[in-house]
Amino acid sequence: MSMKSALITGITGQDGAYLSRLLLQKGYEVHGVLPRRSTDTLWRLHELGIAGDVRLHDGDLTDLSSMIRAVEASRAVEVYNLGAQSFVGSSWQQPLLTVNVAGVGALNALEAVRIVNPQARFYQASSSEMFGLIQAQMQDERTPFYPRSPYGLAKLMAHWATVNYRESFGLHASSGILFNHESPLRGIEFVTRKVTDAVARIKLGQARELRLGNIDARRDWGYAGDYVEAMWLMLQQPEADDYVVATGRTTTVRDMCRIAFGYVGLSMDHHLVVDPAFFRPAEVDVLLGNPAKARAKLGWAPKTSLERLITMMVDADLRRLGG
Ligand code: NAP
Ligand code: GDD
Repeated sequence: MSMKSALITGITGQDGAYLSRLLLQKGYEVHGVLPRRSTDTLWRLHELGIAGDVRLHDGDLTDLSSMIRAVEASRAVEVYNLGAQSFVGSSWQQPLLTVNVAGVGALNALEAVRIVNPQARFYQASSSEMFGLIQAQMQDERTPFYPRSPYGLAKLMAHWATVNYRESFGLHASSGILFNHESPLRGIEFVTRKVTDAVARIKLGQARELRLGNIDARRDWGYAGDYVEAMWLMLQQPEADDYVVATGRTTTVRDMCRIAFGYVGLSMDHHLVVDPAFFRPAEVDVLLGNPAKARAKLGWAPKTSLERLITMMVDADLRRLGG
């Protein structure tokens, strides 16, 4: 029997790396869209030891013809659209780029699938950032959206494009509304990794302080390794649908920090500085997801606690810094 082939946009990102590993373990031939960069962006695939096992195609989400070529060349039966300018903070400085990549880019990916192989199954990396100014204490698939950033706007467009292509053209297109998920492969600009990297540096005597913005913000944080399993499960269902993927627990940035400092025996109060430079023009104060549908229909549940996640990340940063 020939191998199933999958195509991933954003293959060099955190989720792209974990999803590649999962699909390789399941026996897939894994292809990725690789946008042109002036430096090597494969470090995450190298860390997981799979850089040589995936096939990369020159392409960019903003370039429809390259997306068409990638879907054609990969012969993918599953397409995972994970590519984005994914840092909310930068989206106010680069709103058009963010909307072009994360919003119009998703439409390009859907068009490429519709043109080349409308039988292929499609996953859209939607986001809890779409809930923004929350309209329900616990957010689920029926909670109204209220985006608070250009990134949130872009993701909302991509989400509705996915629903629309499912309803208009019968594509097997699913939208995974994923709450924050982190890992040792998280980009350094996101708050958990910024914290675990700083804690490791302070512990090793390489830094003295950690400057953060709004430490009262609350997030529902899970482990990326668990969340990519939910992506795959969505594409194995007979019918495409939308699913919230979350832990059902929300924690302040302050308490997440306390876990990290406490793990290495340091007091957060001696090192943490609140710096208004890191406040955002509009904040998403609290996110808390209800993953009941994913649990019931996909049989998915998070396996990793926030404590385990943060200590795993601190350990990885200590190791990287030579500790
Ligand atoms: P990430 O680490 O920032 O990865 C984003 C990926 O997109 C990178 O491989 C990046 O490549 C690629 N990319 C950027 N611009 C592109 C373009 N024009 N064409 C093709 N690819 C492009 O993000 P992540 O944490 O893995 O998240 C994966 C997806 O899930 C993103 O769409 C994100 O918005 C969404 N999401 C993430 C979370 C979360 O908490 N992690 C939650 C909900 C939704 P370069 O590095 O070369 O730019
Ligand atoms: N990055 C960052 N840096 N965030 C800080 C800081 C800081 O110094 N200080 C406080 N925060 C607060 C932010 O204001 C926000 O409320 C919270 O920490 C989380 O910020 P991020 O880790 O940057 O993540 P995010 O919630 O904005 O966005 C992430 O999750 C979304 C899903 O809800 C990203 O992964 C998005 O791509 C994803 O869609």
